[in-house]
Amino acid sequence: MSDIISIPFILVNLKTYVESMGERAVKLAKIAEEVSSSLNVCIGLAPQIVDLSRVAESTKIPVFAQHIDPAPPGKFTGHVLPEAVKNCGAVGTMLNHSERRMRIADIEAAVARARQVGLYTVVFANNARVTAATAALEPDMVAVEPPELIGTGIPVSKAKPEVITNTIDLVKKVNPRIPVLCGAGITSGEDVSRALELGASGIAVASGVVKAKDPRSVLLEFAKAVRRAET
Ligand code: G3P
Repeated sequence: MSDIISIPFILVNLKTYVESMGERAVKLAKIAEEVSSSLNVCIGLAPQIVDLSRVAESTKIPVFAQHIDPAPPGKFTGHVLPEAVKNCGAVGTMLNHSERRMRIADIEAAVARARQVGLYTVVFANNARVTAATAALEPDMVAVEPPELIGTGIPVSKAKPEVITNTIDLVKKVNPRIPVLCGAGITSGEDVSRALELGASGIAVASGVVKAKDPRSVLLEFAKAVRRAET
């Protein structure tokens, strides 16, 4: 586990929403930093690659890329190089999100390349078995998200709690040291509490924060739920 990422971990994926691009990404990062430090809860942020530098320069919270390619430096036009992401100030990267799926051999190579340059890896997958398969590639963390619940506001922790518990069980068999996040449809502190009660090491969220009328109060609610779970 990296010294900048602690568990329970909240990862805010800014995706490609208009509400979270450019200066808006910076604003969200500042809000997340404020909430993170006031409640002492680890919150990471994953802006678009093109916004990585400006976000990383403006915040102390851990900044993640949404994706990297396993390409080495050289003749690889259009690829996202781990070294470049690291140079932008990112501490880690997401991999294989449902909206940016990768072949398993490329996930393995990307995890290895990330490790080589010192980037923390969170590998996403769509269900328990696929998440367990990716755990065999030894990323730093895995995250399970049923694609059909993403962006719906229907929380995985309530609608499909068995996805979380089955994933944790299977991942434990593969590698008990790998923390499991869950995500999809999480919008309230109660959804976060439920996820942690089920054994998740944290959550991944996007629209619940990015599209919220008041992202600060949503993040505060999430962070308070984390604090409550720890007492
Ligand atoms: O990576 C997190 C994301 O896919 C969850 O999306 O909008 O359901 O919080 P959302």
